[in-house]
Amino acid sequence: MASERFIIDGGQRLQGTVEVSGSKNAAVAAMAASLLVPDECYLENVPDIGDVKFMARVLESLGAEVERPSPSTLRLRAAHITSFSPPTEQVVNLRASFMVMGPLLARFGQAACSPPGGDVIGQRPIDVHLAGFSAMGADIRHQEEKFMAQAKRLRGARLFMDYPSVLGTQNLMMAATLAKGTTVIVNAAAEPEIVSLAEMLNRMGACIQGAGSHTLEIEGVDALHGTSQRIIPDRIEAGTFAIAAAITGGDVRVCGVEPQHLYSLVSKLREAGVQVDEGEGVLHVRGDGQLAAVTIQALPYPGLATDLQAPMAALLTQARGVSYVHERVFENRLLYVSELRKMGAEVISTGTTAIISGPTSLIGTSVRALDVRAGAALVLAGLAARGRTVISDIYHLNRGYQRLDGKLRSLGASIQSA
Ligand code: UD1
Repeated sequence: MASERFIIDGGQRLQGTVEVSGSKNAAVAAMAASLLVPDECYLENVPDIGDVKFMARVLESLGAEVERPSPSTLRLRAAHITSFSPPTEQVVNLRASFMVMGPLLARFGQAACSPPGGDVIGQRPIDVHLAGFSAMGADIRHQEEKFMAQAKRLRGARLFMDYPSVLGTQNLMMAATLAKGTTVIVNAAAEPEIVSLAEMLNRMGACIQGAGSHTLEIEGVDALHGTSQRIIPDRIEAGTFAIAAAITGGDVRVCGVEPQHLYSLVSKLREAGVQVDEGEGVLHVRGDGQLAAVTIQALPYPGLATDLQAPMAALLTQARGVSYVHERVFENRLLYVSELRKMGAEVISTGTTAIISGPTSLIGTSVRALDVRAGAALVLAGLAARGRTVISDIYHLNRGYQRLDGKLRSLGASIQSA
C-alpha cells in the first residue's frame, strides 16, 4: 500500500549532494505531444511520479501505447487511436490531461474532454484554450460534462491570450503545428517548459519561432514525425531542495539543474541572506541560519514561480522581520497558511497576500498536505521544526516529487513514510 504520511523529526542540518529529476510539467506536455504522430516518441529523464502515471493512463485510454522501458524512460506510440475523448475519471486526476485536446483536434479533427482536475488552488478556467481553438476554426460545444471541439482542419489565426497560461500556450501551440497557415500567439507564456515543448515539436517537423518570448509564430505543416526528447530538469524540485538547504542552515549541492531557470529564486534567496553559488548544472546553497525578511511576488516566468511560493513562505517563517508574500497567478493559493500556523508560524493571509513575522520557532505537530506545493512547504517547515511533524495526504507530494523522502534522507534529514 502507498504510504500516506511523512513523519519528520526536525532540526537536522542538511548536507551533501542531491540530483534533481526531470520536470513534471515538461514531461506531461511531451507525453501529450506524442499524440500528434503515429510514430514512436521516446522520452528520457522522465520523473517517476504520480502525474506521469496519470497522464500515461489518459493516453492509454485513447488507444496510445505507453511503455516504460526503464524508470526514467517512456516509449509512446499513438498509431491506433481508438477514442478522442478520455474518461472523466482519468481526466480529473491532473490538469495536464486537457492537453490532449490540441493534438487530437489538430490530427483527427475532433476531441472531447471534461474540465480537468489538478490542485485546488483557484478557479483554473480553460477559456483561453477554448477561445484559441475556436479562433482557429473549431466548433466548440459543451455537452454533458465535456467540451467537444471539431474542425475539418484547423486554420492559422492571430490569437491573443487574455492570460499567459502555461497549459493554454502548450495546447494551442500543439494545435497550430498541423493547422493550415500561420498562427501567432500573442501574450504567450514564456516558461522553460514551453521552450522545451517547442524544441520537441520542431524536431518532429513543426515550424515554431519565438518560444521563450511572449509572441509565438507557428507555421502549420501537413504532417509531423516521431522524435526523442530529453526532459529538462525540474526547476521546482531544484528550488525546493535549495530552500531545504537554506531553512536548515545547511550546505547542499543541488545537481542536474539549469541555473538560469532559477534566477528569480536565487535572487530572492540571496536577498534573504542565503549564499548561492551557481556552477554548470549545479546550485551550491549554504545557509548560516541568519535570514532576513523579504517581499516576494509569484508571477509568470521569469518572475518567481507560483509553485515555489508556498515553499518560500515556509522559509520566511525563519527570517528576521516582516515578509510579504504576494500570489499573483492563482487566486486561492494560500490555504497552506492555516497548516503553517498550527506549527507556530506567525502568518496571516489577506486575499492573495500572506504576511509573515519571524523568526518563529516552529513546533512539530500533525498537519495535512493540501496540494503538492503546499505539502512541500510543510515538509520544509517540518525540517526546521522542533520535534515531530506528521504530514498526512502525502499522495499530493508523490504526484510531483520523485522519492522526496529518500532524497532528503540522503542529505541527513530524518523523514520516514508510513
Ligand atoms: C501550469 C503548471 C503549474 C503552474 C502554473 C503556473 C503544468 C502541468 N502545470 O499550470 O504547475 O503552477 O502553470 O505557472 O504545467 N487562466 C485563465 N484562463 C485559462 C487558463 C488559465 O484565466 O484558460 C488563469 C488561471 O486562472 C490562473 C493563471 O491563468 O490564474 C495561470 O494558470 P496557467 O498558467 O494556465 O496554469 P496551468 O497551465 O494550469
